[in-house]
Amino acid sequence: MAKNTFYITTPIYYPSDNLHIGHAYTTVAADAIARYKRMRGYDVHFLTGSDEHGQKIERTARSRGQEPKEYVDKIVAGFKVLWEKLEISYDDFIRTTEERHKRVVQAIFQKLYDQGDIYKSTYEGWYCTPCETFWTERQLVEGKYCPDCGRPVELVQEESYFFRLSKYADRLLQYIEENPDFIQPVSRRNEMINFIKQGLEDLCVSRTTFSWGIPVPFDPKHVIYVWVDALTNYISALGYGTENDEKFRRYWPCDVHLVGKDIVRFHTIIWPIILMACGIELPKKVMGHGWLLLEGGKMSKSKGNVVDPLVLIEKYGVDAIRYYLLRELPFGADGYYSEEALVRRINSDLANDLGNLVSRTVAMVEKYLGGEVKSPGATEEVDRELAETAVATVHRYVELMEKLELSNALGAVWQLVDRANKYIDATMPWVLAREGKEDRLATVLYNLLEAIRVITILLSPFMPRLPERVGEQIGLSVEELTNWSTVEKWGEIKPGTRVRKGPALFPRIEWKEEKEEEAKEKEKEEAEKKEKENSLVGIEEFARIDLRTAEVVAAEKVEGADKLLKLTVRLGDEERTIVAGIARHYRPEELVGKTIIVVANLKPARLRGIVSQGMLLAASAGEELALITVDRPIASGTKVK
Ligand code: ME8
Ligand code: MG
Repeated sequence: MAKNTFYITTPIYYPSDNLHIGHAYTTVAADAIARYKRMRGYDVHFLTGSDEHGQKIERTARSRGQEPKEYVDKIVAGFKVLWEKLEISYDDFIRTTEERHKRVVQAIFQKLYDQGDIYKSTYEGWYCTPCETFWTERQLVEGKYCPDCGRPVELVQEESYFFRLSKYADRLLQYIEENPDFIQPVSRRNEMINFIKQGLEDLCVSRTTFSWGIPVPFDPKHVIYVWVDALTNYISALGYGTENDEKFRRYWPCDVHLVGKDIVRFHTIIWPIILMACGIELPKKVMGHGWLLLEGGKMSKSKGNVVDPLVLIEKYGVDAIRYYLLRELPFGADGYYSEEALVRRINSDLANDLGNLVSRTVAMVEKYLGGEVKSPGATEEVDRELAETAVATVHRYVELMEKLELSNALGAVWQLVDRANKYIDATMPWVLAREGKEDRLATVLYNLLEAIRVITILLSPFMPRLPERVGEQIGLSVEELTNWSTVEKWGEIKPGTRVRKGPALFPRIEWKEEKEEEAKEKEKEEAEKKEKENSLVGIEEFARIDLRTAEVVAAEKVEGADKLLKLTVRLGDEERTIVAGIARHYRPEELVGKTIIVVANLKPARLRGIVSQGMLLAASAGEELALITVDRPIASGTKVK
């Protein structure tokens, strides 16, 4: 059976040596969607490319003393390097200067002319060269500025060809209204409906005052308007109208044109009308995403290294950059970029939540099981909860990915990451190890590895290097960690699999401000330590502390505090309540009957609304904690000295 196809495109980028982290967003988002669909077994075609013609590019090239082609060649080579570093898995890269593109554009222009949809007239009006956009007088801001970019427009007056947009306005409106999914998100759809309802004017589709473009086939002193040229890439790359059109027949109509909000208008008005006029089916969806902004305005590379994608990838790694972009920008809405926010995301989500889950799990398998996964034993409630959360997460993830809600899909995966971290706290593998409960320990660690396996599969479209890096540690292959058919199964990992602790997946990054604070903190600690060393405790001073033996008669968890236990202890005839932060190390029932040591004359303190009348003694370091007890029976309330 033939696979289902999925055709996704990014815009083709204007050659500019100014690509910033905002530009990377469209391509990274499209890549995550393409990888997700491939993982699910679709025959995916993912197209990107470069939009190389037009007055703006011609001017820039000349201002640098270069031929336009020479100029764009160098920049396009740079694009490809950037996309490679960002792990963009495109299937085709189209350049509008390629022959395969030019002949399709010319054929379409000819066809529209032959059928009377393009006619010759004179254009008198305003043009924004940076945006390559025509404007009418009433659309201008204060009569002279581009309503999109705010820069001054130029008055042009030249003989031009026009495309009858007006003729198709009603049909387009009807199509948009009958296909609620065509323009996403809904806010952009409404904007476009309003725009069309104000009436469409015929579009000027040729220019004569410069030559860097595709010539009008029947009147070569004209070059074809760069947006008509550019939009056609989505079908020229598939060989539309040529003897070699099997890709067009296979992949068209496009499933998703992913574009930034600034160019939704071109993709939902000019493009569908060109297609309608040619008798070609319309794309299924145009998704207009929001922009990544800098505090105080639009992003531009003049803001320096902080927005240079190559610098950022070098500094933080490609998976972290991709994760940040796709997590931080709510789909459809704008988001604000700062390097500090990027570092915060890396530290909290990647280093702390995900990285620690993997490193703790692998470390425990090494320490308690000699590095080898053992068969799981009987299932308990908490295990079922984890496995059920995993399946529910997969369902939620699919639902959100199909709606292209990438940021929310990541949010859903993080709920599973959190659940798995809580599972460690709830099952306390170190206690199981100490008590020699080997079967239970093997089960708990097995379940953690399964959760990590599912999480890695779900994250693989977002972070393409993750499967390999996690796989090296948990002993699974990249194939196993991208295998969709196993994502809803629990119990895929084979007993006997060997784990191996590696370097931290996402090392914590020190941020400047943080560094300063840490330095201050250290200084203070240092000073306190010195003071302590210098001031030895005299016997009288020690004698003021009333240490007593105490028998634990009851213990229970404190509601809403996962570290605290409430103990009832007996000191001779007296009973007291003590709240202690040992819930992650001891279960309440193992404490009852033990004789411990407490500080009996400590000032009472209120913890979670409970008055704690004293403090117990315990030795602790890192994850380890041991209570101080007596080594033979002795009456409770006995003085310790
Ligand atoms: O528009 N945040 O190309 P382009 C998010 N050649 N996305 C951003 C962004 C930001 N700060 N800045 C730019 C063109 N983008 C045309 C397309 S398609 C037939 C022709 C996005 O190089 C922008 O929205 O100016 C667009 O999706 C992409 O980068 C390329 O923009
Ligand atoms: Mg642009």
